[in-house]
Amino acid sequence: MTTIDKKALIEKRVNEGLRGQWYPVAKSVEIKTSRPYGTRLMGEKIVLWRDGAGKIRCIEDFCPHRGAPLSYGEVHEGNIGCRYHGVIVDGDGVVQRVPAMPECALEGRKAVKSYEVTESSDAVFVYVPSVDRPEAPELVMPKEMSDETWSGFLCTSVWESNYRYALDNLADPMHGCYLHAESFTLAYGSKQDLMKLDKTDNGFRIERVGQTGENFDWTEFEIYPGDMFCFLEIPYPQAAGPGGVFRIIGFVTPMDEGTTKVFFWRMREVEGLARESWRFLYRAKLEKTHWDVLEQDRVMLEGMPDDARRREMLYQHDLGVSRIRQILTRAAKQQIEAELKTESVAAE
Ligand code: FES
Ligand SMILES: [Fe+2]
Repeated sequence: MTTIDKKALIEKRVNEGLRGQWYPVAKSVEIKTSRPYGTRLMGEKIVLWRDGAGKIRCIEDFCPHRGAPLSYGEVHEGNIGCRYHGVIVDGDGVVQRVPAMPECALEGRKAVKSYEVTESSDAVFVYVPSVDRPEAPELVMPKEMSDETWSGFLCTSVWESNYRYALDNLADPMHGCYLHAESFTLAYGSKQDLMKLDKTDNGFRIERVGQTGENFDWTEFEIYPGDMFCFLEIPYPQAAGPGGVFRIIGFVTPMDEGTTKVFFWRMREVEGLARESWRFLYRAKLEKTHWDVLEQDRVMLEGMPDDARRREMLYQHDLGVSRIRQILTRAAKQQIEAELKTESVAAE
């Protein structure tokens, strides 16, 4: 019997991303009936499009004939047609037609993987099944998303860095007053502090002890069986116009081990006329500022070596970073154990 290095498998799973999760992969407006959209999710190439009923479909981006990317093809009556020799595949990954060859045996065969998809709050989510959870659980979204009084904008970006660093960065409120010290909104507050971590109903909150409401002072993570997100708040100076604080909701998607797609909703609780003026102000002025801040995060994370965590020396402020890693490791352990169990049953 071969000994399986379970610890290495768990570490690998954490690095690739947890399975059994919904991940946002694109903005809703990017998925069209007219042309397919190719992207990557946890190392797999996938293609998305809208079928005749406007429903989003997602399958492997791999033509069953010879492997051409289906995303180079076209949408034909709700199915996708390969650009190379015209094979038509439907949203379940079944070959519908091989136009170049009459009565081809490929027709009717389920040839590529298909994924469950859903749309929520202007984003498209794809479910990556796990051995212990082949069917998708409910996608739980932040409560502001279904609350009319909140208004926001979704912004996405691709970072050449492992997704774990994006999560670590979000679980680390202390970087705000250093990395973003020059920014319009994040320049305030003290540069020295302690951190505290509290359990919440569905996750945890990491917070600076010495200040709240000054700057980017805390982050909360909510963890559900099928997804995980975080939110934080940035208090605005008067000059930023009407409305309450600015809330950022973040989802992080592992595209592959070295690439992450981040999804940030920038939300504000504003109603009536103030809502319109905030939307205008955001587009006219604030959006650019926020891109600049996000760029600072991107450049920093991309500059860190992939294995930085093997040499790092954490200190008290990294409570949130440690907690997020512990959560990922626990979940990965559960998945790996379920997989090993299934494999050993299959081998008997
Ligand atoms: S590779 Fe797609 S039809 Fe040949
Ligand atoms: Fe940041």
